[in-house]
Amino acid sequence: MQKIAINTGEEMKELYNSAFVLTDSNLERIYGGLLPKTRFVIQAGEGNKTLYSVEKAVNAMIKCGVKRGDRIAAFGGGLIGDLTGFVASIYMRGIKWSFVPTSLLAMADSCVGGKTAVNVGLIKNAVGAYNMPDVFVETKYLNSLPQREFESGMGEIVKMSLMDADLYNFMHGKFDAAEAVKKCIKLKSAIVEKDLTDNGPRRALNMGHTVGHAVEMLTGLSHGMSVLIGMKLEIAMLRELIEHNFFYEVQSYLYKYIGKMPLNLDAEAITVLAMSDKKNSGGISVMYPQNIGDIREVDLSRNEFLRLLKGAM
Ligand SMILES: NC(=O)c1ccc[n+]([C@@H]2O[C@H](COP(=O)([O-])OP(=O)(O)OC[C@H]3O[C@@H](n4cnc5c(N)ncnc54)[C@H](O)[C@@H]3O)[C@@H](O)[C@H]2O)c1
Repeated sequence: MQKIAINTGEEMKELYNSAFVLTDSNLERIYGGLLPKTRFVIQAGEGNKTLYSVEKAVNAMIKCGVKRGDRIAAFGGGLIGDLTGFVASIYMRGIKWSFVPTSLLAMADSCVGGKTAVNVGLIKNAVGAYNMPDVFVETKYLNSLPQREFESGMGEIVKMSLMDADLYNFMHGKFDAAEAVKKCIKLKSAIVEKDLTDNGPRRALNMGHTVGHAVEMLTGLSHGMSVLIGMKLEIAMLRELIEHNFFYEVQSYLYKYIGKMPLNLDAEAITVLAMSDKKNSGGISVMYPQNIGDIREVDLSRNEFLRLLKGAM
């Protein structure tokens, strides 16, 4: 069972008890004065979630004398979490790590479940490992989060709400970020406990990601917004499989968060990227909601995927 503390005020103690902290340049600017001195700063931005950044972090850790029995910590959003977790997985064949998530997305989603990775070329999360952190969520850090990033976190929360009636109803009332984070952590933890390695119910969490990852890579939109757009398109692609009223209910729910589709997307380019998605085992895997809490998967051939995507755009 993953250790996840929420608003207990222990996060700084945890960072200071760690041998080494990774953070990004934006958080360094805002919170650098509060963080331990033994830290390494990665330039913010998805383009830096690379093996090159891993190498730089590992070199800094070696220089700093981080040992096999030590613990390292991440202070940042999903990018810093994924990168630190991956570094922790390979450094001296694996060391322990803690995560203080600072973005809404990282608090509600990526801090749970131990998936770590970096991108290679245009392939999202092409190399990675499962390595569960101890997590210290403090929702006060949301106070400095830019609006774009808040909306990105909402993307993953909206996705999760299609998987759970309680969260879905909650999302139709007055929004409270701390409560949403707690509900998402509970939901994702229960799923991960049943299926750590993505072979069963955890695959539902990939909803929106087949198209979404490609949209993120091609447009530079935030992760969560890309997932929302991915979900909208995937659901439209598979509308024949979805009950009429539910289809329109979900589309108008997504519209609330996306607004007008902002982009001229290239179906061919999305298809090429979707084909290299690591979820695939044969065709292109797409998850869609049959109902709230009932997420299904279909496997589409390249041509079928492209035809349906063109029709959905
Ligand atoms: N491991 C998983 O299960 C999982 C799940 C979903 C997404 N992800 C990954 O997470 C990443 C997206 O996460 P993200 O949206 O947190 O991205 P991010 O870490 O790049 O953070 C987004 C931006 O917000 C800034 N930021 C973060 N916290 C802040 C704060 N408190 N105040 C001010 N600025 C702050 C960052 O500097 C950055 O510019 C992607 O790489 C995605 O692949 C991983």
